[in-house]
Amino acid sequence: MSVHNPDIKRVTTHTIQELKNKGEKISALTAYDHAMAQVVDAAGVELILVGDSASNVMAGHETTLPITLDQMIYHASSVVRGVKRALVVVDLPFGSYQGNSTEALRSAIRIMKESGAHAVKMEGGLEIKESIVRILSAGVPVMGHLGLTPQSIYKFGTYAVRAKEEAEAQKLIDDAHMLQEIGCFGVVLEKIPAALTKQVSSSLSIPTIGIGAGPDADGQILVIHDLLGITNEFKPRFLRRYADLHKVMTEAIAHYVDDVKTNDFPNEKEAY
Ligand code: KIV
Repeated sequence: MSVHNPDIKRVTTHTIQELKNKGEKISALTAYDHAMAQVVDAAGVELILVGDSASNVMAGHETTLPITLDQMIYHASSVVRGVKRALVVVDLPFGSYQGNSTEALRSAIRIMKESGAHAVKMEGGLEIKESIVRILSAGVPVMGHLGLTPQSIYKFGTYAVRAKEEAEAQKLIDDAHMLQEIGCFGVVLEKIPAALTKQVSSSLSIPTIGIGAGPDADGQILVIHDLLGITNEFKPRFLRRYADLHKVMTEAIAHYVDDVKTNDFPNEKEAY
C-alpha cells in the first residue's frame, strides 16, 4: 500500500494526460467537504471530483437533479480548501448548462471564480457541444461524461448498463471522439460494457475514467461514501467496498451514547 509523498507537485490536466501517455492508471474519487477532501488528497488520489452525487449522498435526494449551482459551489469551495495536490473537477449541475451556451459559460465561470476549482465536468455529447466549446474558449478545462448520465435518469428510466445496443454504442464512440476533438481533457465513462470501454479508451488519446465500465479505462472513479461503506444499502456489482465505516461509525456512536448515559463520559481528565 502506498501513501503519497507530500513533496509531489500539484496535479494538473497535463499530469492526467501524462499518466495515460505512460500507461499509469489514474485514481479518482469524489469528495464534497473539507475534511474528506483532506483525507482523499493525502492518500494520493490524483483527481477529486466534486460530483453532483452530493445530491444523493450529502443531501439525501433520490436523484442528482435537485442540487443547485450555489450548493455545488459551496461543496466545491470546501473541497478546494482541503486539497494540496489533486486536480479538483466540479460537476456542472442539472439545469445550469443545458439551456444555452451563454448560461453554461456563466455557470462554469461562477464555479471557477467562487470555488477555486480547476475544471468542470458536463454530462452529454453532441447535444451540449456548443456549451462545451464556449466554456473551453474561456480557458476552463472540461471533462466529458458519457454512458449512464444520471442527470438524464428520467429519459433512461433506469440506472441499468448503457450502450449495450449497437446504435447507442456507436453514438457514444462518436461523442467521445467529438469531445476529444473540441478539446476536453478527459471523459468519464459510466456503466457501459467493458469491451466498449476498451475500444473507446484505446482509440482516444485523452484519458477515460471509468465507473462500472470495466478494467480498461485509463483510470477509475468511485463515490467516496460507497468505497468507504458509509452508504450501506447501495450495492451495485461494480462497487468494491474498502471499509465498513457504517458499522465502525454506528458502533463508535453507540459506545458514546452508552458512556453518556452511564456517566462515564466525560471523566475527570476530560473536565476543566
Ligand atoms: O457525480 C458523480 O459522483 C459522478 C461520478 C459517479 C462519476 O459523476
